[in-house]
Amino acid sequence: MTPSKYSKILGTGSYIPSRTLTNQELEKMVDTSNEWIIERTGIKERRLAKLDGSETCSEMGAFAAKKAMEAANIKPDEIDLILFATVSPDYKLPSTAAVLQQKLGIKNECPCLDIVAACSGFLYGLVIADSMIKTGIYKNILIIGAELLQPFVDWTDRTTCILFADGAGAAVLGRADENDSSKILSSTLSCDGTGDKLLFVPSGGSASPLNKEKLERKEDKLVMEGKQIFKYATRTMMRNSQMALEAAHLSVSDLQWFIPHQANLRIIEYLAKKLEINMEKIIVTVEKYGNNSAATIPIALDEAVRAGKIKRGDKCAMTAFGAGVTSGAVVLQY
Ligand code: UT7
Repeated sequence: MTPSKYSKILGTGSYIPSRTLTNQELEKMVDTSNEWIIERTGIKERRLAKLDGSETCSEMGAFAAKKAMEAANIKPDEIDLILFATVSPDYKLPSTAAVLQQKLGIKNECPCLDIVAACSGFLYGLVIADSMIKTGIYKNILIIGAELLQPFVDWTDRTTCILFADGAGAAVLGRADENDSSKILSSTLSCDGTGDKLLFVPSGGSASPLNKEKLERKEDKLVMEGKQIFKYATRTMMRNSQMALEAAHLSVSDLQWFIPHQANLRIIEYLAKKLEINMEKIIVTVEKYGNNSAATIPIALDEAVRAGKIKRGDKCAMTAFGAGVTSGAVVLQY
């Protein structure tokens, strides 16, 4: 295939799990309060997936992907590559992308790949897909950000269980030319591996296989240095946003919309202040969905598109940070 000057988002989709967990319910589970959670995080409630197999990571991803393919007007066998961003895969192996392929009725044996970049995963996927479309290797790429974090959360740890949630979002990326009003304009990705233990699951990988003692110590659950992560979040999202905007020859005032990773409303407000972006331009979903990691950005994007907020041609920046510590930003005309 001939190279393409640009890529663009052809369509988006999302899936929000049915169960709502309120702050009041959390008050009964751990020593916390609705007031504390709202003041420190902005979260009022979050969504959790059913654990009966009907809302697995791949199932939620499939729901979101089908909507994205429908919006993009792309048939299953027109997908050339599946990129599935998640840190909560259905299985250690095979990839969740491979599990998803058959659920979408894709029979063309397209390559399938998981991306492990935590909350930055969807943006990592977007950047990989953008470059593969530009080189002409693939025409239509499906990118999913989906998480079923529930099994990895210690529901007795008030410092983490108030934050995390489940959900899925997806987008189909395709070719665009110079005159197209929709196109990805620029992107940056980064990772500072010195922060690899700031947000991690200590055991269950090959470096520390699980045993009875480790399970008793809950080493299969997420641990987080909240304050440190907070600092990384604001620093890395700010730097990546500025770099991507510069590469697109745009300034903050040129943007119609800004979608940051939805981890904590305070992080979003701090970033808005530092970047001098009016909160009205920022898509916020964290208060109702919590932090569903790789799914936050595609869900926020899909909701804003479907609500008629983000329109074709609107200039939009997205930025994320996550365990690793990974980070990135993408600037596009939707
Ligand atoms: O996708 C990446 C995901 N992670 C993040 O984005 C995390 C980023 N960090 C944060 O969002 C915030 O640091 C937290 C929300 C996790 C914590 O907020 P904070 O303002 O940094 O609180 P803190 O850790 O400084 O804790 C203040 C106090 C402590 O009590 P003492 O030591 O002052 O007596 C905590 O023990 O609040 C206590 N605390 C709570 N109290 C009620 C911690 N968690 C809770 C809680 N309810 N859930």
